[in-house]
Amino acid sequence: MSFHEKIETNVGLLIVLTVLTVSVGGLVEIVPLFFQKSTTQPLNELVKPYDPLRLAGRDIYVREGCYNCHSQMIRPFRAETERYGHYSVAGEFVYDHPFQWGSKRTGPDLARVGGRYSDQWHRVHLLNPRDVVPESNMPAYKWLDRPLKDAAVIGDKMKALRVVGVPYTDTEIADAPKALEGKTELDAVVAYLQGLGLALKQVR
Ligand code: HEC
Repeated sequence: MSFHEKIETNVGLLIVLTVLTVSVGGLVEIVPLFFQKSTTQPLNELVKPYDPLRLAGRDIYVREGCYNCHSQMIRPFRAETERYGHYSVAGEFVYDHPFQWGSKRTGPDLARVGGRYSDQWHRVHLLNPRDVVPESNMPAYKWLDRPLKDAAVIGDKMKALRVVGVPYTDTEIADAPKALEGKTELDAVVAYLQGLGLALKQVR
């Protein structure tokens, strides 16, 4: 019986060796990504940790499930770059925990929506999309025009992000609640959207 035949006729051995092969193959592909500059360092000086208002907006984006209809990942294909701008690169997302790449696109990709519309457009659109895009089937988020609820815990959120590598300073964390004073949830979401994708905005 050949060596190969022995493996193929012994299910236990076949499973063990398959798992071993797949593990080694996987590690060889994945581990280098933890050490490459292009995946661990910010792309350029425009990629900064979220300021408190944008961070609060990002949490509302997650809470409201915007990712169920919107991706934030432009693929490197002509059809995508013509429509949305430069394709997404890893160095743009180093401060995103968790990232919002997604793949479900009921609505358009939002990776470079920052600066595409005015703040006022976003406010109207979020409260009732049909007011600016008559054929839109995006839900109306009428309740967003209310004071930010969990402004007090913004510092704790920043501390948690610091644990996973976002370089917030003690002063930034201490000053964070002040930055949210008098702000609404709508202000936060709009600030978040307006900052998306600016690092590679001009490049096509
Ligand atoms: C049920 C699917 C759905 C959900 C959920 C949804 N959207 Fe949309 N969104 C759409 C569709 C469809 C469009 C395109 C029509 C329009 O502009 O309203 C759109 C458009 C947009 C646009 C304009 C993009 C562009 O480039 O023109 C923004 C910004 C946006 N959505 C933000 C959000 C945010 C923020 C949330 C969560 C609070 C959200 N969407 C939730 C479906 C959705």
